[in-house]
Amino acid sequence: MQTTILGRTNLTVSRMGLGAGGHSRIGRNAGLTDAQSADLVRRTLDHGVNFIDTAEGYGTEAIIGQALQGRDRTSVVLSTKKSTRHEQVTPNALQTSLDQSLKHLRTDYIDLYNLHGVVPQDYAYLVNDIYPALQKAQQQGKIRFVGLSEMFNEDFEHTMLQQALADDLWDVLMVGFNLLNQTARANVFAQAIAQNVGIQIMFAVRKALSHPDNLRAFTDALVEKGQIDPADLRLSSGLRRAQSSRRSLDAFPDFLLAEAPSLPDAAYRFCRDEPGVHVVLSGTGNAAHLDANLASFARPPLTQQTRNRLIHIFRRVNSTTGQAV
Ligand SMILES: NC(=O)c1ccc[n+]([C@@H]2O[C@H](COP(=O)([O-])OP(=O)(O)OC[C@H]3O[C@@H](n4cnc5c(N)ncnc54)[C@H](OP(=O)(O)O)[C@@H]3O)[C@@H](O)[C@H]2O)c1
Repeated sequence: MQTTILGRTNLTVSRMGLGAGGHSRIGRNAGLTDAQSADLVRRTLDHGVNFIDTAEGYGTEAIIGQALQGRDRTSVVLSTKKSTRHEQVTPNALQTSLDQSLKHLRTDYIDLYNLHGVVPQDYAYLVNDIYPALQKAQQQGKIRFVGLSEMFNEDFEHTMLQQALADDLWDVLMVGFNLLNQTARANVFAQAIAQNVGIQIMFAVRKALSHPDNLRAFTDALVEKGQIDPADLRLSSGLRRAQSSRRSLDAFPDFLLAEAPSLPDAAYRFCRDEPGVHVVLSGTGNAAHLDANLASFARPPLTQQTRNRLIHIFRRVNSTTGQAV
């Protein structure tokens, strides 16, 4: 597993991070038992992933804590998040929640503590009233670095993160990015590189890139909206075929899948090799998908020609996150 330095945190992190939320919640939504989910986490760590993202809202912190038993705490970078939506976060509530996260994770410090799913309209309040509580927790040694995750499904072009970068208070940012919506390149990564801010990617696969039938529905809608030029798709015979074929992913001989065994594979590698990106989160509750994703992160970059085609095809897209058509 390739590693990198997570920006100004100076932490060494694996390029693949295990996301314990999303639709899979490490198997909670597929009916895995706690022990089976904990096994999935341990399997991930055993293959060289040292980065785990969770959140108080996911209901998976305690499983991560269980999976880490008997392991060297310093061998893992733990990221968790405090919900900021549908409740008024107060400094006291943050402290209570942080203590609960520490208890669930069975640790006395959290590497990255993030405000979760911050919407632009809440940002000023969180900076003024909650950021000092984060600093206090840092002074107490309960958290090492502070970060933000965005509400990508409501903020398709990263308005909140642009404000956050202008303030330069945050060590790490969790950003929505995938080959459909590449707006973070100009709106977030350029500045984050200049400021050496750590970047974690979410939504690399999500729904749109988990299966070619889903991709077809998304690209059809984007053509309909005028955000993709159908001529670009025709030129890129690969995606065209991916859109029209009902066969299994492995059977696609298109320009993208000629280099990749599956759409999720291509999607993760596309994000991994984007300049400015440090960690790409992969969320799964399926052991076979986990093994495939671990293999994806060991593969070389997509060719520059393929990257350029993908950048060109989706250059105008700013109306989807890959979750809903
Ligand atoms: N605002 C926020 O702060 C926020 C929002 C969303 C996510 N996150 C974080 O980001 C992490 C990643 O989330 P994401 O949902 O965007 O993850 P993702 O890795 O882009 O997509 C996960 C989806 O793809 C499927 N999948 C994964 N590998 C696959 C494979 N090899 N073949 C086919 N399907 C595959 C999963 O289903 P299976 O379970 O069937 O594999 C799941 O439905 C989350 O776990 C969470 O930690 C944060």
